[in-house]
Amino acid sequence: MTDTLPSSSGDLDPRDRGGPAQPLISARGLLKHFPVRNGSLFQPRKVVRAVDGVDFDILKGETLGVVGESGCGKSTTARLLMQLIRPDRGELLFDGETVGDTLPLTDYRRQVQMVFQDSYASLNPRLTIEESISFGPRVHGVPAQKAIARGHDLLWRVGLEPGRFAGRYPHELSGGQRQRVNIARALALEPRLVILDEAVSALDKSVEAQVLNLLLDLKRDFGLTYLFISHDLNVVRFMCDRVIVMYLGKVAEIGSCDAIFTNARHPYSAALLASMPKMDPNARTSQPPLAGDPPNPIDPPPGCRFHPRCDFAEGVCGQRMPPLSTVSLGQETACLMSLAGSGHSRAAPMEG
Ligand SMILES: Nc1ncnc2c1ncn2[C@@H]1O[C@H](COP(=O)(O)OP(=O)(O)O)[C@@H](O)[C@H]1O
Ligand code: SF4
Ligand SMILES: [Mg+2]
Repeated sequence: MTDTLPSSSGDLDPRDRGGPAQPLISARGLLKHFPVRNGSLFQPRKVVRAVDGVDFDILKGETLGVVGESGCGKSTTARLLMQLIRPDRGELLFDGETVGDTLPLTDYRRQVQMVFQDSYASLNPRLTIEESISFGPRVHGVPAQKAIARGHDLLWRVGLEPGRFAGRYPHELSGGQRQRVNIARALALEPRLVILDEAVSALDKSVEAQVLNLLLDLKRDFGLTYLFISHDLNVVRFMCDRVIVMYLGKVAEIGSCDAIFTNARHPYSAALLASMPKMDPNARTSQPPLAGDPPNPIDPPPGCRFHPRCDFAEGVCGQRMPPLSTVSLGQETACLMSLAGSGHSRAAPMEG
C-alpha cells in the first residue's frame, strides 16, 4: 500500500492502473443456489436459483452496469464477486489470476470494495466518521496516525471537510453525506474494483446527481473500475460503458451501453427499456410493456426463462435454453431468434 493517495493528474492509464490488457475480472460459470425451507421433511429440498451460471468480464477502467427486475440476482452476483458468499460453482479470475488459488483471498479482498444502498446500516453507529474510514487500513497494519491522515484526505476527496465531519457520528449526517463517507471508506484500502449496489438509489434526485458526478471524478482520479448495479436505467445510461441485462439468475444480454439502449436484441431488454420513464411526456406510454411478475426463481420455467412473458415465444422457446450468441460487435444475446438454426421462425438458417 502506498503512503500517498494518487493525485488528480488525469494522466492515469485509461486501462485502470495499467498492467496487461486483460479483463480485471472474469466470472466463469458463477452459480449460487440458496436452499429454502419447505414444511415437510419428505419433500425434496428446493432451492432458489439466485445466480444460475453466469459468465462475464469486467474490463479494466470501465463501468459495467447490471440491470434487471428485483430478484433477478444482481445483489447475489455482487456478493459473489465480493466473496461475501461462496459460489456453489464457477470461478473468478482477477487480472488473470484465480481467486482463492494463485491469488489468495486476503489479497483479493483488499482490491474489491462495495458500497450498498443503505448508507446507515453499513456504518458502525458507535464509530466516528474518521474511525470508520481508517478502520480498514488499521486492520491491514497502517499505523494510526497515517490511517487517520489518509481518512482526512479521503474526506476532502468526497467533498466533506474533515474539520467539520471527522469527529461526527453517522446519525449526525444526511443520507447523501453518509453515502460519501461510505465511498471514502471503500476507497481507504485503494481498491481497483468498486461494486456499487444501488448505492445512489435511496438518495433524493439532486443529491443523487451530485454523488454520481463524484463517483465519475473518483473513478478518473484513482484509476478505478466500477460494477454499477441499479434499477434506474436513466442512471445506468449516464454512468456505464457496458451493460448486463439479467433475468432470473441468468444473463439475457450484454453489450455496450449504446448497443443496449439503442439496439437491444433481447425481447426482455427491449421491454425493460420500454418501461423506462421517458423525459418527453409525449413519448410516455400508458401500457406497461412487461406484463406479470417475474416467475419464481425456485421453479423457473424450462427452456428460455422469459418465454411465459415474451411476445415472440414459440414452442421451441419452452424446450431449449438459449445460449448467449454474438449479435454485433461486443453484443451478446440469449434469445433463440438470435441463434442461427435454433428452430425459432425468426432465426437465421444454420450457416454452412
Ligand atoms: N440468503 C438468501 N437466502 C435465500 N434466498 C436468497 C438469499 N439471497 C437472495 N435470495 C433470493 O435470490 C434471488 C435473487 O436475489 P438478489 O440477488 O437479491 O436479487 P436483486 O438484487 O436482483 O434484487 C431472490 O429470489 C432472493 O429472494
Ligand atoms: S428465446 Fe423465445 S421466449 Fe426467449 S426471448 Fe427469445 S423469442 Fe422470447
Ligand atoms: Mg439487490
